Amino acid sequence: MSPLEKAFKGKKVLVTGGLGFIGSNLALRLIDLGAEVLLVDSLIPEYGGNLFNVAGVENKVRINISDVRDEHSMPYLVQGQDFLFNLAGQTSHMDSMQDPYTDLEINAKAQLSILESCRKHNSRIKIVFASTRQIYGKPDYLPIDEKHLLRPVDVNGINKMAGEWYHILYNNVYGIRACALRLTNTYGPRMRVKDARQTFLGIWIRLIVEGKPFEVWEGQQRRDFTYVDDAVQALLMAAARDEVNGQVFNLGGDSVISLKDLADLLVEVNAGGGYAVKVFPANRKGIDIGDYYADFSRIHSVLGWKPEVPLREGLARTLAFYRANLEHYR
Ligand SMILES: NC(=O)c1ccc[n+]([C@@H]2O[C@H](COP(=O)([O-])OP(=O)(O)OC[C@H]3O[C@@H](n4cnc5c(N)ncnc54)[C@H](O)[C@@H]3O)[C@@H](O)[C@H]2O)c1
Repeated sequence: MSPLEKAFKGKKVLVTGGLGFIGSNLALRLIDLGAEVLLVDSLIPEYGGNLFNVAGVENKVRINISDVRDEHSMPYLVQGQDFLFNLAGQTSHMDSMQDPYTDLEINAKAQLSILESCRKHNSRIKIVFASTRQIYGKPDYLPIDEKHLLRPVDVNGINKMAGEWYHILYNNVYGIRACALRLTNTYGPRMRVKDARQTFLGIWIRLIVEGKPFEVWEGQQRRDFTYVDDAVQALLMAAARDEVNGQVFNLGGDSVISLKDLADLLVEVNAGGGYAVKVFPANRKGIDIGDYYADFSRIHSVLGWKPEVPLREGLARTLAFYRANLEHYR
């Protein structure tokens, strides 16, 4: 038995945001590892939740359509669970500026009530929280390590920062084992491609698969990308090991690439397609963080995690998934 099978076989695992992009990929892996999986998701249409994400395994998971803001359902849902992967979130930076209160309620207040539910009803649970690189804001230096100042440039970054630190606080004060992974741009099958709410790469992929040109804004910004299977692996490893409790870890990518070079690579891997370079829209420029890439040596040294799927390979797998399944994601 592999260490992860040992950790999860027969265990009860709750995934909030479990019908979303990363949550559903995690659920598929947990089923393979023999876990008893419960997915909680609100399926709010603007977010990445999609029932097709669990097509074929519906009978192997329990699905509860509820909202993590509901202070009455969470205490019931956390009971008896061994692990909680806390992934439910409002992910759009622009939406957080246009509707800051909803972002606050989901990414900060609801996180606190999930933790209160655990404190009152299941303090033995182990929690892994999906945090984000957005909380660093504009980098002072690159690659960014976990010691970099947190200086978010948008409402989403501030609320995710609070959400992350509630988890660390509950670990430190109440001994509810929790850690946080600061994810960078994550991509792969089951991501939202309807629009750019989750990531600009989503809309690029949809348009290229539809044979239409996509837009690259400026294109000189350099970024790192994590293939979703690698992100899932990191979440599982962090859940399975107790030396990570109370800590935060960056995830990263196998390479650093400018958005213009990424666009060229996507066209090359797709064997066709085109794009137009445009100026950055003014309303987005104000919250853009410019270049970003992570130093993920901390998680590498503590857990041995590193990205395994090269960008080219990850893009090829993603394009193949959407060529076959686009109708379910439009
Ligand atoms: N994808 C990335 O590049 C990335 C980067 C950094 C951090 N993250 C974090 O990872 C987590 C998962 O992101 P994702 O990319 O899978 O996005 P996603 O939108 O596909 O998944 C989030 C899920 O949470 C659900 N959800 C949202 N609000 C909810 C609520 N109030 N109650 C119940 N469910 C709710 C959505 O329906 C969705 O299915 C998020 O917390 C996000 O902040 C993702």
